[in-house]
Amino acid sequence: MVTDTDYMERALLVARRGCGRTAPNPLVGAVVVTPEGVVVGSAHHERSGEPHAEALALAAAGERARGSTLYCTLEPCCHHGRTGPCVDRIVAAGVARVVAAIEDPDPRVRGGGVRYLEAHDVDVSVGVRSAEARKLNRGFFTAMTERRPFIILKAATSLDGRMAAAPGRRTKLTSPPADRVAQMTRAEVDAIAVGSGTVLIDDPLLTAREVYRARPLVRAICDRRLRTPPSARVVATLENGPVVVLTTAAQLDSDRAARLTERGVHVRAFDGDDLVSGFRALREFEVNSLLLEGGAALQTAAWDADVVDAVHLYIAPVVLGSEGVPFLDGRQFTVADLENVEAFSCGPDTVIQGDVHRSH
Ligand SMILES: NC(=O)c1ccc[n+]([C@@H]2O[C@H](COP(=O)([O-])OP(=O)(O)OC[C@H]3O[C@@H](n4cnc5c(N)ncnc54)[C@H](OP(=O)(O)O)[C@@H]3O)[C@@H](O)[C@H]2O)c1
Repeated sequence: MVTDTDYMERALLVARRGCGRTAPNPLVGAVVVTPEGVVVGSAHHERSGEPHAEALALAAAGERARGSTLYCTLEPCCHHGRTGPCVDRIVAAGVARVVAAIEDPDPRVRGGGVRYLEAHDVDVSVGVRSAEARKLNRGFFTAMTERRPFIILKAATSLDGRMAAAPGRRTKLTSPPADRVAQMTRAEVDAIAVGSGTVLIDDPLLTAREVYRARPLVRAICDRRLRTPPSARVVATLENGPVVVLTTAAQLDSDRAARLTERGVHVRAFDGDDLVSGFRALREFEVNSLLLEGGAALQTAAWDADVVDAVHLYIAPVVLGSEGVPFLDGRQFTVADLENVEAFSCGPDTVIQGDVHRSH
């Protein structure tokens, strides 16, 4: 017998088709099933501003939606955003039952969709495959509940946990197969961030290369002293997405800020002692997920601020020795600090990915 869980898994699969395209909106999938168990509509939300998954699935089902069950990976919305409320369409379509994986954390919804449907005699169940639904949209959930992006710290290290051969020395650690995995992560997130030290030493492009990416990639540089040169290579790649330099309010009127702004860079202020305020400032650029790629100092500051949600470590089979720059400035860090750990080989390198235990 096909269960609610089976149909919800199908809706989750459908939702993933929007991966990398929907921010700042969540990934959502919806499936319409008749009382006989026939799937008569199935759709995903494609991008912000376009119809919601529920509306598309109901449109596909047409008259066959009457008396059906609608499975959706997120509580249907009840507010007038860029499209009308889904709950009105659900009631108008004559849907008998709605099964939602999880409540929408958007303060404009948060249970309001469920209450509206129940008030209109629709039977509602919430909580089927909720953990998967939350994971699918962890950027959206973090943005809604903590008003900051979901932060993935990505670092390449040597076997002895060093990120560079010496302070200020550009050090290539990973192999082309590992670089490809890193590029795939760049294709999925909304933004990359680095510290000004990395820009000055490595002069990276910070673009997603050799992977398909549907939306522009925001590149952020944390730079309280505003040392980013207008000639930096990242500034020359604005066609790939906006470059945002986060600095202190005192720097906003400086000549350096004016020169960067002239080149098309967005210079924004943050409280330099509070890194989270910098990441929050990126919400202006619709950033729900952020890859913190370096360098050592900025990653240590983010770790100490307890805002790292996941870690991606790329470990190369080299030893850099005691002159090398230690990961997290030598702070105690082991894989035991992570949960949901995945580890795999990539050419000669080992990749370890996991979520951070919030109690570190
Ligand atoms: N192995 C890897 O995965 C990897 C990745 C990237 C870089 N790297 C290496 O790391 C080295 C660069 O690292 P780095 O530590 O010198 O530079 P960094 O972390 O890229 O940048 C450090 C700068 O960030 C600025 N910053 C802004 N807000 C900050 C905050 N809240 N806390 C701390 N700093 C803040 C500071 O300048 P202000 O005080 O002016 O703001 C600081 O000097 C290079 O050798 C590079 O090759 C390695």
